[in-house]
Amino acid sequence: MTSTAPRYSRITGTGSYLPPNRLTNAALAEQLARDGVETSDQWIVERTGIKARHFAAPDVVCSDLALAAARRALEAADVDAANIDLIIVATSTPDMVFPSTACLLQQKLGVHGCAAFDVQAVCSGFVYALTVADSMIRTGAASKALVVGSEVFSRILDFKDRTTCVLFGDGAGAVVLEASDTPGILSSELHADGRHVDILCVPGTVSGGQILGDPLLKMDGPAVFKLAVGVLEDVARSVLDKAGRTTEDVDWLIPHQANIRIMQGTAKRMKLPMDKLIVTVDEHGNTSAASVPLALDESVRSGKVKRGDTVLLEGVGGGFTWGAVLLDL
Ligand code: UT7
Repeated sequence: MTSTAPRYSRITGTGSYLPPNRLTNAALAEQLARDGVETSDQWIVERTGIKARHFAAPDVVCSDLALAAARRALEAADVDAANIDLIIVATSTPDMVFPSTACLLQQKLGVHGCAAFDVQAVCSGFVYALTVADSMIRTGAASKALVVGSEVFSRILDFKDRTTCVLFGDGAGAVVLEASDTPGILSSELHADGRHVDILCVPGTVSGGQILGDPLLKMDGPAVFKLAVGVLEDVARSVLDKAGRTTEDVDWLIPHQANIRIMQGTAKRMKLPMDKLIVTVDEHGNTSAASVPLALDESVRSGKVKRGDTVLLEGVGGGFTWGAVLLDL
């Protein structure tokens, strides 16, 4: 690559990790019933498409899941951790207030010196992190980035609130993004609208040595649903336009895995056949920033998504935030 040649970024490896404790809807419903919280497998499947989720053991933290996913992505890319020059972790459930989970991951990988920071954009976090890494690679600020989405959402769930606690799960996904003289990432777009802070939030914080406010997740599900359906179609069309592509060019749509009805609604509005939609929400639940890289890695490893395929990634979530990345794998 000469210094004047355009510089792009390309995913060269993917990895993911789910904690071993898989909890079916029936098992979760049984646990909740002990506390007088009523739900059912039928309600959860019909309204969300979720059949099971994974929960991390109490002593496992966000950076542990990130480490397992990162190692798999590095192995797939055949890249030594020592050669990574940028680590970005997208998470809303970090190990600590600070340092960042990215710094803790760097330490667990046994490397040091490269830039490492977290991105906090809730369920849009991975799409945000990937866009930042792509921008840094294009400008020459980095050449080999490790981009991770990792969450332990089970830690911030209110198990007395059936409208939220049945929806989320834990897990991590990662990609290695490297400089390339061919794209790679074709286009991306990020958005936020802080007017909708209240519809999806964890309002508490740490102050004066105490937790101030409610430290558990609050969501107005129907309000999030309505906003998500609208913005996901708009941002998908926008990244396609930017790249000079059309919906016919999309081999796979990998949206944030929150609710099968939102995902199918987006595919339908875009006139994409349902067999181009990657679905992992049934087995993972909503893993927030981890959902897109988890779904990407599973579909790559299963042989469904192949090198050279055009893939549309989409995120949407608290903030309110949303965004999309269009790429050739
Ligand atoms: O990751 C960030 C993005 N997040 C999302 O995209 C989430 C978006 N929202 C959603 O996915 C859906 O709005 C939910 C799955 C959260 C809720 O589905 P809904 O079809 O919008 O249901 P609803 O909130 O309108 O509730 C319908 C009924 C209510 O009962 P009534 O008032 O009709 O008697 C709820 O109390 O379902 C009841 N309900 C439940 N019943 C059994 C709510 N949660 C449960 C539950 N089990 N777990």
